[in-house]
Amino acid sequence: MESRKEGILRHLAVIMDGNGRWAKKRHLSREFGHRRGAENLRTLCILCREREIQYLTVYAFSTENWKRPATEVSALMSLVIRVFRQYMDELEREGIRLRFIGDRIGLPAEVIETMVEAEESSKNRQKLQLIIALNYGGRREIITAARALSSNILAGTISEDEVTEEIFEQHLYLSDVPDPDLIIRTGGEMRLSNFLLWQAAYAEFYSVDCLWPDFGAEELDAALEDYSKRQRRYGGV
Ligand code: FPP
Repeated sequence: MESRKEGILRHLAVIMDGNGRWAKKRHLSREFGHRRGAENLRTLCILCREREIQYLTVYAFSTENWKRPATEVSALMSLVIRVFRQYMDELEREGIRLRFIGDRIGLPAEVIETMVEAEESSKNRQKLQLIIALNYGGRREIITAARALSSNILAGTISEDEVTEEIFEQHLYLSDVPDPDLIIRTGGEMRLSNFLLWQAAYAEFYSVDCLWPDFGAEELDAALEDYSKRQRRYGGV
């Protein structure tokens, strides 16, 4: 993991909440709200590119979201495929690399194929890394890392007392990505909802009432302005 540079926002993470409420206010279906949410993700990528943010991680589907009605779950899964097909050329033009974090077990085969293709075809792009958390849970990520580490200990490739934070992090989903500097949650709630639990240790948190489909340049710049005024001490004085 690279060291952090004071004041520079390299990695932005977003909990894109409020698609359902946005749709309900307009007497539209929740699925329509998610489609609008996906279009807004495209806008956010462009805004991040313009502001030279290097990593953008977004929460698209949590390990808890399977509790939603089957029609909504399937609409969200189809959206992943549709978004990739629709924006493939634009992602290339914009130099955006796509990566996914989360548990692939349990995802529909067609979704996994799309994810693999998206990652493979974009792996040499360097302007912005868009990391999509899909079937993601922070606790599950930590448990998965703990299991992998335990196997290594049992196999004798590492001893118990060699386990440090740095070694543990190497077993998380994307160990080459720096921790998020700022986590924005739209829709007004003040929770992390199992998002990036390990990586959020020193992240600044910003919650805004604006519903995700309405979150645009003005709202992003207000969040970045707020972030720039905060003093990050990482436990120091
Ligand atoms: C939370 O809003 C949003 C989600 C669970 C899904 C987020 C997904 C997108 C923005 C779609 C784009 C992503 C990709 C990669 C295809 P909610 O439904 O909980 O809203 P509510 O709190 O108003 O009900």
